Amino acid sequence: MKLTLTKPFILRCFLISLFLSLPFLFLHLFSPQQQQQPQHSHSTTKDLTIRPGYTSYETYIQRQLNKTLNPRLRKIWTTRDWNRKIPVFARFFEDLKDKSLLQNTSKALCIGARVGQEVEALRRVGVVDSVGIDLVPYPPLVVKGDFHHQPFGDETFDFEFSNVFDHALYPQRFVAEIERTLKPDGVCVLHVALSRRADKYSANDLYSVQPLVELFNKSVLVHVRTVDGFGLDTEVAFRKKHKLQTSR
Ligand SMILES: C[S@@+](CC[C@H](N)C(=O)[O-])C[C@H]1O[C@@H](n2cnc3c(N)ncnc32)[C@H](O)[C@@H]1O
Repeated sequence: MKLTLTKPFILRCFLISLFLSLPFLFLHLFSPQQQQQPQHSHSTTKDLTIRPGYTSYETYIQRQLNKTLNPRLRKIWTTRDWNRKIPVFARFFEDLKDKSLLQNTSKALCIGARVGQEVEALRRVGVVDSVGIDLVPYPPLVVKGDFHHQPFGDETFDFEFSNVFDHALYPQRFVAEIERTLKPDGVCVLHVALSRRADKYSANDLYSVQPLVELFNKSVLVHVRTVDGFGLDTEVAFRKKHKLQTSR
């Protein structure tokens, strides 16, 4: 008698708990965290991941500006850092000149140049037609511009340099803009961090050169070498193909 009463009771309990757990199952499968992924899936691969947490483009820009506009840091970048960093940038550019990737006659752009130390270095080594872009201008070396939407026409530059690939929320767009504004045969040199996580203002993490090779689909890889560039360990150089080469 006791047994016949218990069996249906257990079955009912089981069915009720199954029914009650359904909302949690749905919540897990369709949580906002999981839905955020496809937003950037076009540029997220095993070796290139976009950091979560940017709820909008404005949030991303504001985060970048918080540091770049800091008056105390701007003072340091234009005084103590100025003399420390320019000779290092100048050596990188002299080396690129030796490798015929950069000439004194090159029209050059530095992307994410902040107060323009790398632009000043280019000018000092003889590449006088050089300018930088950043979210915050620093005239005359740096003009205002978002690297996801460069304020220049197609095929403007012979040479583009950047050490801020990790700050790109849309790496595909970052590279597409470089390839758009480079002339055919133009050279792009990136300094990136491969072996460690970049800083807390980074928007992506890169673990190998392969995603760059895939993103630079209108260019050929020229070289990859180890450098010591203010926390960035790898220099990657690309040369933009001619239109005929691209369509092959
Ligand atoms: C780590 S700092 C590098 C500064 C400089 N290249 C140097 O080595 O001294 C990153 C710079 O990228 C800029 N930046 C971030 N997002 C940007 C964007 N979407 N467009 C243009 N500049 C951006 C920041 O304002 C900041 O000045």
